[in-house]
Amino acid sequence: MTGRNITLDNPERFKGIYTIAEEKINKAIKKACDKLASKIDIYTDGFPLAYYKGFQYNYRVGENDNWICGLHTGCFLLAYELTGEQKFLDVAKHHMESYKKRIKERIAFQDHDVGFVLSPSCVAYYKLTGDEEIKEYILDAVEYYYNHSYSQKGGFIMRDADAVADNIEGGCRTMMDTMLNIPLLYWAAEVTGNKKYAEAADSQAEITNNYLIRSDASTYHHYQFDLENHAPVYGLTFQGNRDESTWSRGHSWGILGYPIAYSYTKNDKYLEIQKELVYYLLNHLPSDNVPYWDFDYVSGDEPRDSSAGLVSACGMLEAVKYMTDDNPLKEIYLNSSAKLIEGTIDMCTGDIDTEYDGLIYRATGARKANLGVDGCGMYGDYFYLEALLRYIKPEWKMYW
Ligand code: GLY
Repeated sequence: MTGRNITLDNPERFKGIYTIAEEKINKAIKKACDKLASKIDIYTDGFPLAYYKGFQYNYRVGENDNWICGLHTGCFLLAYELTGEQKFLDVAKHHMESYKKRIKERIAFQDHDVGFVLSPSCVAYYKLTGDEEIKEYILDAVEYYYNHSYSQKGGFIMRDADAVADNIEGGCRTMMDTMLNIPLLYWAAEVTGNKKYAEAADSQAEITNNYLIRSDASTYHHYQFDLENHAPVYGLTFQGNRDESTWSRGHSWGILGYPIAYSYTKNDKYLEIQKELVYYLLNHLPSDNVPYWDFDYVSGDEPRDSSAGLVSACGMLEAVKYMTDDNPLKEIYLNSSAKLIEGTIDMCTGDIDTEYDGLIYRATGARKANLGVDGCGMYGDYFYLEALLRYIKPEWKMYW
C-alpha cells in the first residue's frame, strides 16, 4: 500500500507478553507526580524556555511563547489524571488565562507548532472540564492557524509562515514534528463539522509519507519546498546528525502522529505507515531500550534521547487500541512499548550527582546546537507521564 518493504531484524526480541512490575510503575508515577507537586509554586506562573543547558529548567514568569509551553501545562493535566489530586488541575486552570492572552495576541503563531501548544493544554483542559470559553478560543486559534500556516498551493503546514511571507526560504519547509500538530486540525474538524481542517491534516500526513519518509522507512527531519510555487525540492535535517540520517525524536513524531490520524479518519494506510516507522525504530534500538538521539548511532557514548522512546511507546499504545487480538503486531507493540517505558524508568529517573529539574533525564533537545543535550526537557517529561498513563489505563481519552 505504501510501496515500502521493511521487516523487523530481530522479531524474537519483541515477542511474548512483557509487563512492567506493578510496584515499579506505581513507584515511578508517585516519584514523578511528587516532583511536579514540589515545584508547583514556580510552575503556576512560569513557563519554561524551549531548550535548556542541561538539567535545570529556566522559568520565566508569564512567558508563554514557545512550542513546549503546551507540554508544560499538559504535565499537570496528566498528573491530575494519574493522582486525582485537584491541585494539579488548578495549575492548568490558572495557565488557561495565559493561553487566552497568547491566542488573542497571536504570540508565536507564525510557527508550525501551534498544535503542540494547544492540544496538550487547552484542548486537554476542554476535554476534561467542558469549559466552553476555552473551546471558543481554541477554535479561533485554529482558524488563524489554518489561514496563516497551511499552504493551499503545497498542501502542507509551513514551518514559519511569516518567514515565507518575507521570502525567506527556511520558512517554506515542513517537518516530521507536524505530525503532532495535525491532531489539532482533526479535532477542530470534529467539533465544528468543518471538513477543511481534516483535509489539511490529511494532506500533511500524505506529504509526510511522500517526502519525509524515505523508501527504507528512515525519515528526513525537514523537507524544503520551493518558495514560489511550494513544490517539493529536497530533504534535510535541523536537529539530526546529517541530512540523510534519521533524527530519532523527529521519527517518533511520526510513530505517534499516524495512529492519532487513524483515530480520527480510520484510514488503514496510516497504521501501515506507522508500522514501517516502528520497525525502523526497533531495528535501531540499543539493548537497554533507550534510543540514541539519532539513528546513526546504535551503540557507544553518543547522547540518548529518552523522549524519542517515550513518544514512540505512546504511538504504539495508541495503535493497539485499534488492533484485534489475532493481529501479530499487537504483541510486538505491547512488548516493545513496555520495554521502552521500562528502559526510561531504569536509565533516566534514578538519583545522579546533579540535581535535575525534569521528571526524567537523558533527553536531548538539539545536539548540534548544544541545547539540552543528554539532560532534561519538557518533551521528555510530558511524554513520560503520557506513556505511564497510557500504560496503566489503556482506555485513557487522549488529549490530541
Ligand atoms: N518540535 C521540536 C522538537 O521536537 O524538538
